[in-house]
Amino acid sequence: MPNFRILLTPGDGIGPEVLEESTKVLGRIASRFGHEFQFEEESLGGAAIDKYGVALRPETVAKAKDSHAVLFGAVGGPKWDDPHASVRPEDAILGMRKQLGLFANLRPVKVHPLMLGDSTLKPEVLEGTDMVVIRELTGGLYFGQPKKRWTNAQGRQAVDTLRYSEKEVARVLHVGFQLARTRRKKLTSVDKMNVLRTGQMWREIAVEIGREYPDVALDHMLADACAMHLLRRPASFDVIVTENMFGDILTDEAAMLAGSMGMMPSASLGKRRKDGTGIGLYEPIHGSAPDIAGQKKANPLAMILSAAMMLRISLGLETEAAAVEAAVDQVIRDGYRTPDIANTGSHVVDTAKMGTLVAEQIVVAHISPRRK
Ligand code: NAI
Ligand code: MG
Repeated sequence: MPNFRILLTPGDGIGPEVLEESTKVLGRIASRFGHEFQFEEESLGGAAIDKYGVALRPETVAKAKDSHAVLFGAVGGPKWDDPHASVRPEDAILGMRKQLGLFANLRPVKVHPLMLGDSTLKPEVLEGTDMVVIRELTGGLYFGQPKKRWTNAQGRQAVDTLRYSEKEVARVLHVGFQLARTRRKKLTSVDKMNVLRTGQMWREIAVEIGREYPDVALDHMLADACAMHLLRRPASFDVIVTENMFGDILTDEAAMLAGSMGMMPSASLGKRRKDGTGIGLYEPIHGSAPDIAGQKKANPLAMILSAAMMLRISLGLETEAAAVEAAVDQVIRDGYRTPDIANTGSHVVDTAKMGTLVAEQIVVAHISPRRK
C-alpha cells in the first residue's frame, strides 16, 4: 500500500479551519483509493510565536524535509502585527520556502462556468480561462545584493539588485515546460528583455531550453504586455513562467480573474525527481482572514484544491487529484456556497459542511477504476 507522509501546518486564523476540511477530503481519498496518508501536525506562525517564541522551529523544518509534502494553512493576524516585533508570523512562510528550496510558485487560475458572473471582468472575456502562472520565488530583485538605503549630499538614496544565475532561470523554466506538457502544451515566458540584462538572459535561456521540449509551443511576452493581455484575452494562456517580481504582480492580477480568494490554490515546488514528483508546499493564496476567523464562514475550497495539487504534483496521484477537483465542481454545480461566493438561489453552508459535501462526492461519483 503506498504510504505518504504529509506535514500539516495549520497556522493562524482560518488556517486550522480550512486545513481540517482538506484532511477530511484526503481521508476519503485514502479509503476510496487504498492509500495511507500519515499526517503530522506542527504549529507555526503566530501560534508558534505564542508557544515557542519563534514563528518557525528547526524541528518543523526537519519534519517538512522528511515529508512528501506540506499542507500549509495561513499565518498572521492583528495580535502579532506590531511592526517593531523581533519575530513575525510571516517568517514562517519565508523560512519554509527558503529552507526547503521552494523556487517555483504555481497558481492555477480556472474560472468555474457557474461563477463567471462573480468576476469583475465580463463573462465573455473570461469564458474558457484555464491557466497556471509560475513565479520564480527565491531569486531576483527581492533577494539580490546590494540592497540598502543611505543618505548623501543629494538626499536619500536606495538600491535593490536584480540578479539571476543561469541555474536559477533554467530550473524554473523546466518546471514550466514540464507542466505545459501535461496541459495544452503552450508556454508563455515573460521578461523585460527590452530594458533589462536579466531579461535578455532569461529569454536566451528560455529559447535554449525550449529546444528540449519541441512538443511545447513557446512564446515570449514583455511583462507589461502580459499584464494587459491577462485582462484582454485570459483564455488564450496555458502556462506562464516569469521571474520573482513580475510574478508577484502578475499572479495577483491573474488570481483576481477568478473572483474569490476562497477558491484559489497554490503550490511552491523545489527540486523535481525524474518522474516530476518532489517536495512541495501547498497553500491557499488567501491569508488568515482574522475578520471571519472562528465564525465557521471560511471557504475551504482553496485549501481543498491545494490538497488536490499536492496529490497530483508531489505524490504523483493524478486520478485522485482529478477526483477531488471533480467533487468540488459537482458541489458548486449543486448550488452549495460558503458566504463569500454565495449568490441568489444558492444553498449557503458553513466551512465544515462544505468540506463534508466535497468528501461525500468523492465516494458517490469517483470510484477508482482499480476497485470497480
Ligand atoms: P486575507 O486573505 O486573510 O483576507 C482578505 C479578505 O478575504 C478578508 O475579508 C477575508 O475575510 C476574505 N477571505 C480570505 N480567505 C477567505 C476564505 N477562505 N473564505 C472566505 N473569505 C476569505 O488577507 P488580509 O486580510 O490582507 O490578511 C490577513 C492576515 O493574513 C494578515 O496577517 C496577513 O499578513 C496574513 N496573510 C498570510 C498569508 C499566508 O499565510 N500565506 C497570505 C496573505 C496574508
Ligand atoms: Mg503578492
